[in-house]
Amino acid sequence: MRKSSRFKPDELAAYQWQMPARRNARINDQGSDHANPTTELPVEPIDWAKLFGNANPVEIEVGMGKGLFLLNSAIARADTNFFGIEIVRKYQLYATNRFAVRQLPNVKTVCTDAGWVLSRFVLPASVNAVHVYFPDPWWKARHKKRRVFSPQFAAQSARIIREGGRLLIATDVEEYFGVMTGIVRAMPAFRELRAETSTGTVEEAGYQTNFERKARQNGTPVWRAEFERTAGPITEVADPAA
Ligand SMILES: C[S@@+](CC[C@H](N)C(=O)[O-])C[C@H]1O[C@@H](n2cnc3c(N)ncnc32)[C@H](O)[C@@H]1O
Repeated sequence: MRKSSRFKPDELAAYQWQMPARRNARINDQGSDHANPTTELPVEPIDWAKLFGNANPVEIEVGMGKGLFLLNSAIARADTNFFGIEIVRKYQLYATNRFAVRQLPNVKTVCTDAGWVLSRFVLPASVNAVHVYFPDPWWKARHKKRRVFSPQFAAQSARIIREGGRLLIATDVEEYFGVMTGIVRAMPAFRELRAETSTGTVEEAGYQTNFERKARQNGTPVWRAEFERTAGPITEVADPAA
């Protein structure tokens, strides 16, 4: 990975949202409060208008990696605010360096577990879209519980996406695509708009993220789906990884 420390930390601060101090936190036995998103903490919602300095709509990307989707989206859609969640610090640094180069005012990030942020800091019906592109597949059966896209995650997405908003997913793992679409299709809170697979080179099919570019280069098919948030109730389906 290319060295990502082109800008000094204070120059990147504008692109990195810091979670509020953990007042009254009950930390688990490992001393980590990321491992258990159900740890009791006060909910301190993000005020999007305050964070971005305007009332434009907000879209969240979960697991942004090196931030290519956010970079291109923030440039192409200056009237939308983008919030990226990434658990690995070096990727957050890499992505925020990219945003700093372009001095983008409409993209921010946080480095932590996405489920944690969605459940603790995001108000109901406060975002227009949640994007989840090429989430880690965790191939081994005993590791599947680590997958970011679970019934709980889908329910949190339904809670935070406003009616008419979108949940968008893509992956190069057919089995994981089946699991994700199976979860969402069983939820009355979502209506499927499209689900498709495509192959093709980078030139033929294009790409939105670094992992999608890799898939195209390897000739691997990409599965993609888009769902609309309905007025339906939020339900949590049975966990396929359980
Ligand atoms: C396979 S990469 C895909 C990156 C990017 N979306 C792309 O398509 O190029 C998955 C990313 O999700 C991040 N990730 C994994 N679990 C996460 C979690 N619980 N919360 C936030 N990010 C997570 C990983 O660190 C990694 O950067």
